[in-house]
Amino acid sequence: MHILHVVGARPNFMKAAPVFAALAASGARQTLVHTGQHYDVQLSAAIFSDLGLPEPEMNLGVGSGSHASQTAQVLQGMEGVLIESRSDMLLVYGDVNSTVAAALAAAKLNLPVGHVEAGLRSGDRTMPEEINRIVTDRLATSLFTPSRDADANLLAEGVPREWIHCVGNVMIDSLVRLLPRAVVSELPASLNVTGRKGSRPFVLVTLHRPSNVDDGPMLRRIAEALSALSRELIVVFPMHPRTRARLEQLRVPIGNVLALEPLTYVDFLALQRLAAVVVTDSGGIQEETSYLNVPCLTLRDNTERPITVDVGTNTLIGRHPERLAGEITRSLDTNLPERRAIPLWDGKAAIRIADAIMSLACVRSS
Ligand code: UD1
Repeated sequence: MHILHVVGARPNFMKAAPVFAALAASGARQTLVHTGQHYDVQLSAAIFSDLGLPEPEMNLGVGSGSHASQTAQVLQGMEGVLIESRSDMLLVYGDVNSTVAAALAAAKLNLPVGHVEAGLRSGDRTMPEEINRIVTDRLATSLFTPSRDADANLLAEGVPREWIHCVGNVMIDSLVRLLPRAVVSELPASLNVTGRKGSRPFVLVTLHRPSNVDDGPMLRRIAEALSALSRELIVVFPMHPRTRARLEQLRVPIGNVLALEPLTYVDFLALQRLAAVVVTDSGGIQEETSYLNVPCLTLRDNTERPITVDVGTNTLIGRHPERLAGEITRSLDTNLPERRAIPLWDGKAAIRIADAIMSLACVRSS
């Protein structure tokens, strides 16, 4: 069995790493291809190294561009790679532009596509990721879902039940594996911040969605809210390059907010586990905070991960940064609720994926 994995952007890497390791342990032959969608060292190479992912055998070097041009470049670049590699299956991850483009190139060549983190739906087609999720799931024939709500979405869209494998959350596999390293990270001490009960509790912020950072008036409102917060509390904000660029372009002040470069996986996890509250628009961080039992305020109207609201620690506050101060004060004044485990978010999702893929190989060869 020869599996070709395609990754392109930061959130793909923590999903691919455990699957790559589990398939290696099962004896599969594997090829890792990077599309080059993310190319900054801090968004790519540094994260690869933290996760122990091998150097990709190929990098398509597509870089940044409009959605159409980025998707088209991956589609075109992947066609030749897939023909040459003669692999048995393509595995793609999550919902970034590289995911949908690689899946389409494979499907056109009749190569089976496996989608890791299938079935998530926000119901919001204005998000580029929602389009990527829907299309990738239509093209895949092995759909590895993180939770039962994702199975229900796929069944409602007519995906055959036998194509759906509810395996759990691979992102949590990486978290479980690397948490011991995060616990000994020196970053929190070097920033002089402590956990919720210590003397210097802090709010951790990440924002990069177009609906928040590409919308000038919205970004201004967010910056004003964070700036006001930073007068009362320590606010730590590792910035995605697009967010930093927009803030600089608009010349919006952010008060005493501690703006950092993007962090490595382990250092970010070190801050996340200690944060009193996390403010984000990321999907993966809604999941990680739920696992860590850290309150999360999501600056979005909807989420493709409703389980993090139902069972986890996530609260959607819409695109209303004015609500942050009140919500954070309320959260700091309240005791944390008991941690609730989410079924199959146990650090073993990738093993279940490898088992499912190896059984598919057995069926095909018998
Ligand atoms: C992409 C994903 C998003 C994911 C996010 C994680 C899509 C549609 N979006 O968003 O789902 O949550 O990654 O970060 O695939 N840039 C750099 N350096 C880089 C890459 C990008 O500076 O290495 C800047 C460029 O100005 C670029 C912009 O960020 O134009 C956007 O990059 P892009 O890959 O299009 O989307 P992200 O916002 O990173």
